[in-house]
Amino acid sequence: MENKNESMQTAKRLDGIGEYYFSKKLREIEELNKQGKNILNLGIGSPDLPPQPEVIKVLQEESAKLNVHAYQGYKGTPALRAAFAHWYKTWYGVDLNPDTEILPLIGSKEGIMHICMTYLNEGDEVLIPNPGYPTYTSAVKLAGGITVPYVLTEQNNWEPDFAALEKTDLSKVKLMWVNYPQMPTGQLPTTALFEQLVAFGKKHNILICHDNPYSFILNESPASMLAVPGAKDVVIELNSLSKSQNMAGWRVGVLCAAKERVEEILRFKSNMDSGMFLPVQLAAAKALAADKDWYDSVNAVYRRRRNKVEALLQLLDCNFSAGQAGMFMWAKIPAKYKSGYELSDEILYNASVFITPGGIFGSAGDDYIRVSLCSTEEKLSESIDRVKNYLKK
Ligand SMILES: Cc1ncc(COP(=O)(O)O)c(C=O)c1O
Repeated sequence: MENKNESMQTAKRLDGIGEYYFSKKLREIEELNKQGKNILNLGIGSPDLPPQPEVIKVLQEESAKLNVHAYQGYKGTPALRAAFAHWYKTWYGVDLNPDTEILPLIGSKEGIMHICMTYLNEGDEVLIPNPGYPTYTSAVKLAGGITVPYVLTEQNNWEPDFAALEKTDLSKVKLMWVNYPQMPTGQLPTTALFEQLVAFGKKHNILICHDNPYSFILNESPASMLAVPGAKDVVIELNSLSKSQNMAGWRVGVLCAAKERVEEILRFKSNMDSGMFLPVQLAAAKALAADKDWYDSVNAVYRRRRNKVEALLQLLDCNFSAGQAGMFMWAKIPAKYKSGYELSDEILYNASVFITPGGIFGSAGDDYIRVSLCSTEEKLSESIDRVKNYLKK
């Protein structure tokens, strides 16, 4: 008899949507670990450092109360929205109305999907950075849109080539995804770039969706695209506590935009989920009140780790630019490798160290690799030793 479970047809919208690269690779790494390999994983960007102790205290104290366990409002608790507004004013110099221009999210990743589901009709086009965060592509496809990749190159400081874009037919383009500090390249934004993007969005009637989770990491001047005068006419910005507050597993992010955009996106989001657990929201509000010492202390650790990663990359004969922001190092592989995949597999199978191949972020990343700074100095030193030992053979 036919096994019904095997023949279940998935929805068409999943065609071409593969399993997320990391979930597949993690399974392979688990398999290698079972064989006793003890792989050092320098792939995933999940902060290993803890949040501020006061944040955990708020969660503990609040969750012990009896009246905090009910459903929460779809727009987040006022205390959290006020904390986001204060954070944006303090660090980015941006005024946001906490009642109308701020929408707390369960991480910024879900915001990417919400934006696509809110605005895209079947066949609408979306500009996607290549290389860039793979979720932009899958969210657009799941929402029925068509991805139109735009290439970022080292020669152009990993910025969009506006002249080339202007020569293409942009009439069907509804959204453009951008992300600075850029992941995976670590490129910082300039004010001029943000101004150009706002002008480009206005000229072509394109919503500029700026994903901004890395602005505090290895960067002394956090910047928001919403600081550009008139940006709210065309910009939606996503932000997150995952990286800057070491709270990736807590799932707290935010969407900032004009009142009309927030209302439109809420029409979709309020049908998908309900408000976050109140103690999590109150603890997140506490995290946002951190002063400069907090960011300095986190960055001091990343800076020390970056030195180690630079040593590892030099061993591998890779080229990289100084001053990258965010929690990764992006580096060009030597010519002897066909691609970053080849280098990654060679090091995984021979030195038991996993490094992300740049190609998973798009074809323009094929000649690159990305090393995460979310490992202790000890682990990074051990990785260096293992690679040295392998290269000696
Ligand atoms: C560019 C970019 N955007 C968004 C995210 C997701 O962040 P969050 O944890 O807020 O969903 C990541 C996480 O790796 C990322 O690299």
